[in-house]
Formats: sequence, structure tokens, C-alpha cells
Amino acid sequence: MTLQNDLLLRTARGELTERVPVWMMRQAGRVLPQYRAVRERAGSFITLAKTPELAAEVTIQPVDAFDVDAAIIFSDILVVPEAMGLPYEMIESRGPVFPTTVRNQADLSRLRVADAESDLGYVLDAIKLTKKELNNRVPLIGFAGAPFTIFCYMTEGKGSKTFSVAKKLLYTDPNFAHALLQQITDSTIAYLQAQIRAGVDLVQIFDSWAGILSPEQYRTFSLPYIKQICDVISGTPDRDVPVTVFAKGAFFARHEIGQLSCDVVGLDWNMDPKESRALIPDRVLQGNLDPCVLYADFAQIRAEAKQMLSDFGHQHYIANLGHGIYPDTDPDKARCFVDAIKEM
Ligand code: CP3
Repeated sequence: MTLQNDLLLRTARGELTERVPVWMMRQAGRVLPQYRAVRERAGSFITLAKTPELAAEVTIQPVDAFDVDAAIIFSDILVVPEAMGLPYEMIESRGPVFPTTVRNQADLSRLRVADAESDLGYVLDAIKLTKKELNNRVPLIGFAGAPFTIFCYMTEGKGSKTFSVAKKLLYTDPNFAHALLQQITDSTIAYLQAQIRAGVDLVQIFDSWAGILSPEQYRTFSLPYIKQICDVISGTPDRDVPVTVFAKGAFFARHEIGQLSCDVVGLDWNMDPKESRALIPDRVLQGNLDPCVLYADFAQIRAEAKQMLSDFGHQHYIANLGHGIYPDTDPDKARCFVDAIKEM
């Protein structure tokens, strides 16, 4: 059961390693023509995500195509609200939509805490199958959305630039907001624990909308719930599964995030590497190349990757993009980024 390439796992655990590990957020997806072919066969994103054989296939594609040091299970953060009783749809070129939303206690009373084994069994099956098919080549990353980011989608019903419907509720009905956040948290903890039992080697929490909150609101409505998740996962006695917290835009909360019982802190490209090291002195850092750098020519991609590496240093560091790779990125450019990191 030992991994052939456990570089990412050792780095995440705080060990010194011979090279900087590298993977890319949203590496499995529309960047790859082979993904689009499988997606076509499946007919829809949701069918693809719910068919373990196909989900395992697209999870492994970027490992073959880019030679990254990890796979991340193909799924979406919105499977959790669905498992709580709020189904979503994925609308082509528009993104996710919830036909019904949750905006008060009465709406909330119709939801339940997700039962991971029965409601999310298809993800757990995809994890087991992926582990088998990966054959210990690289570690497998599991993930979930942070409670606040999930709250944004469940209340707003769709993506938004401002999430003002979601934020309004923090002011007008904080008791409801906390009750929904707690139910999402309980569901997420059960889900991540089930992913760990199914075989994931690390987990990442995506707080994609952290940056819309003020520091005070972040401290009230997001951090305490991420803390609950970190405390449970890091306290799991039988398996040591490193936890990464990636809070996009939460430059103001870096120090506090670095105090959580997590192992790795993910950074976006607005966060300066040296400043981040000073704010988060004793955690592994991950990030943070602007995904738009991958639109530059090959020489510039290599130069930017080299600069990033020298700013972060070669230890206690996982190279990645500062957010998910954009779908119109040339796969050769993504490969160039990965190769550049590995050559240094
Ligand atoms: O990283 C990976 O390769 C694993 C797969 C993965 C997906 N979604 C597949 C996906 C992961 C880790 C996610 C997480 C996710 N989903 C987040 C957090 C990360 C982030 O980007 O901030 C969020 C906010 C979502 C919600 C979501 N799902 C949106 C906003 C969209 C539409 C726009 C977009 O960026 O694609 C999705 C759809 C989605 N999730 C696709 C994929 C491959 C595209 C759907 C398709 O194939 O048509």
C-alpha cells in the first residue's frame, strides 16, 4: 500500500523533501480534450460525477497528461447541499443553479444532515475505484467546500459576483445563518470522514468566496466552522490525513488560518509569498501562480514559475496555481508549468 510517489504527502506533513511537489486546482476538467470526450459520453456533468467508472477515469487523466504529483477526485463542492436535500443543476456555460433556495428557518427545516454513506456513496465508490486504478502512483486528494462558500450557493441559488443575498442574511438573520452553517458543517465533517475511510490521502477545504467577507464577518461566519472541520479531521486517531485550507481572497485572515489545526494553507496570487511566510510561519504553503500566467508564452511561464519558487523557497511548499485552471488554457502550457517546477 506504499505510494510510489509520496512527495506531496511528505511535504504536507511538514517533512523536508528532495523536490517541490506540484499539482493544479481544477486539473481534471475542460482543459483536457480527453475530459471533454468522456463528458460528452456521459451526457451531463452530474451524470459524469455520479458514475464512479467515469469519475475515476477523468480523475486520472491529468496524472497521465501533466505528470502531476497528485490526483484530486472528480466531483463538485455542491454534492453536499444535494445530499442535504437541495438538488442542483449544472447549466452549460452558466454554472451551477439551485432551483430552490434556503433563506429562512422554515426552508432549513426541510433539510437534513447529509448521510455520507447513503447520500454520497457514488463519490465514495469513485474514490475506491480511483485508488485501485491509480495503483499507488500518486496520492489522491479529497475535498469539500467550506461551510460559508456552500452557504453562499444554497441561499443565493446560483453564482454571483457579490453574493449580496447570502451576505444580507448575515445581517438580517444571523441566527438562521449560524443554524444553516452548522448543518452544512456537520454534513461536511461526515462527508470528509467518509472520504478518508474510502481511501483519500489528503483533504482540501475550498472557501472560494471567503474574499467577499470583512475580517470581522470572516471571524464570525466562516473561520469557526472551518475550525470545527480541521479539529475533527486532524484529531482522527487511526490515520494521518493532512488538511489544506484554501480561502480565496482571505488575505486578511492568513494569520488566523495558519493557527487552525490544518497542515497546509493555500494562497491565491494576491497574497505575497514572503509576507505570507511571515504571517503563517509554521505551516506548509500552497499556491499561488495566477492561472492567467498560463496564457503567456512558454518562456514566460518558466520564468514566472522560477520566480514563484524562489519567493516561497524549496521546502514546506507545494507548487500550485492561485485558483482553478481556466477551461480555455492550452494543455501544453499547463504541462510547461508542471515541468518547470519539477526541473528546478
Ligand atoms: O479540481 C479538480 O480537477 C476536481 C474537480 C472539481 C470540480 N469542481 C469539477 C467541476 C473541483 C475541486 C471543484 C470545486 C468547486 N466547484 C469549487 C471550489 C473551487 C473553486 O473553483 O473555487 C466551486 C466554487 C465549484 C462550483 C462550480 N462547479 C462552479 C462555479 C462551476 C461552473 C464554472 C466552472 O468553474 O466550471 C462548476 C462546474 C464544474 N465543476 C466543472 C467541473 C469540471 C465544469 C462542468 C462541465 O464539465 O461542464
